[in-house]
Amino acid sequence: YVIGIDLGTSAVKILLLNQDGNIVHEVSKAYSLIHEKAGYSEQNPQDWVDQTVSGLSELLQTFEGNPSDIEGISFSGQMHGLVLLDENNKVLRNAILWNDVRTTNQCQQIYDVIGENRLLEITKNPALEGFTLPKLLWVKEHEPHLYEKLNKFVLPKDYLRYRLTEKLHTEYSDAAGTLLLNVSKKAWSKEICDALDINIDICPPLVEPHAEVGFISSKFAKVTGLDSKTRVFAGGADNACGAIGSGILEDGKTLCSIGTSGVVLSHETNNDKEFDGKVHYFNHGLADAYYTMGVTLSAGHSLSWFKEVFAPEESFEEILTGVENVPIGSNGLLFTPYLVGERTPHADALIRASFIGMDSSHVRSDFVRAVLEGITFSLNESLEIFRQEGKKIDTIVSTGGGTKNEHWLQMQADIFNAKIIKLSSEQGPGLGAAMIAAYGCGWFPSLQDCAKKFLTIEREYEPIVKHVQKYMKLFEVYKEVYLKTKSVNE
Ligand code: XUL
Repeated sequence: YVIGIDLGTSAVKILLLNQDGNIVHEVSKAYSLIHEKAGYSEQNPQDWVDQTVSGLSELLQTFEGNPSDIEGISFSGQMHGLVLLDENNKVLRNAILWNDVRTTNQCQQIYDVIGENRLLEITKNPALEGFTLPKLLWVKEHEPHLYEKLNKFVLPKDYLRYRLTEKLHTEYSDAAGTLLLNVSKKAWSKEICDALDINIDICPPLVEPHAEVGFISSKFAKVTGLDSKTRVFAGGADNACGAIGSGILEDGKTLCSIGTSGVVLSHETNNDKEFDGKVHYFNHGLADAYYTMGVTLSAGHSLSWFKEVFAPEESFEEILTGVENVPIGSNGLLFTPYLVGERTPHADALIRASFIGMDSSHVRSDFVRAVLEGITFSLNESLEIFRQEGKKIDTIVSTGGGTKNEHWLQMQADIFNAKIIKLSSEQGPGLGAAMIAAYGCGWFPSLQDCAKKFLTIEREYEPIVKHVQKYMKLFEVYKEVYLKTKSVNE
């Protein structure tokens, strides 16, 4: 057996898999977000540890095998979060998370000191509030008494792994989201550290995601019931693990994952590509591979917002009933999903959503269809950028909430103009983490071989030419809306 631990933003999800890739046990334990002020989003790292201990103990109590049958463990984690440790590896403050946006001034400072082009050359990404380096600069400026005690920073799942093993590392896929890594060279950037007066020694040692980093400590084995001979592998960022768990392991493979936010992600082998910062470019969980990534901040969130405001008593299934009877284009209604600003291709925290083209004949299902179309158009804007750079995208694996409705899956095929694949398992990141452990344990010669055994296709959706043509015209109008509504918030 192997275990995959996915340290998410709302909960830690733990999967126990057997050698056939079947999920034998699955536990999820929630924790809360701390919003001290508007725009702040923090978590107490001890909550991650406590809930993981509680989840693992529960899992081991129901597990019928012997703890020593669990050969390996690995991790997937929410990206970008800043965990600060003192010289005894004690946590100095709450972790500042990826969805915390207090750092606009620090992003500007990074551009002023490094220069936008140079930052892109080194890190392949723009300075965004969510990334780690601006958070580090914020602490340096606002909490100098804590910064003074800082010995190492790590990312969320690295801290959890440290508590399991007492060994401190990070790996390339999460390091790529810090803005401190030279992404092509796979090394911490001394140039960025020096320019911003950051001691490079606070950056943790770097390893490959599949690297074996230690064993379960006897202390942790005692509180969870795990065996202290269980091997521990570094793991990866949630999006990198989501890519592994969906089989995005060679060029030409693309993922669309719709949860609260939505992600489109494409495998890359070229280590030196830039998109002017319009989409992200990170190291993959697969050694020496990369991925381009677009993010729509309010994807599933747009639908849950609509439900909460207009039909709180109904289920998603009820709300989506009848969308297939509304024609393409929602009878002239268009939605842009910028409820909390946008990440890609418009890095714009101030832009807000819109419904355009309302008519007194419109009924609720027109609005619901417009929301689905708007979310999918938004993801298509990032895909369009991948394609403009010469990427061939003809097959997309779709995961997450976006696969719960077959009409939405067909809509994805028609808007993305690509075949959509729905897999039998919906466990993306957690499954990817377990696959890293299975590969690390030597069950398979490669992650690709593991994917062949563990992943199965449930259904495929082909684009319908007539629909594709209609959507192409509407997409051109959709893109105008951002440009025309931008000034409203300026
Ligand atoms: C990626 C990002 C989120 C987090 C949260 O850039 O900010 O997907 O990883 O899970």
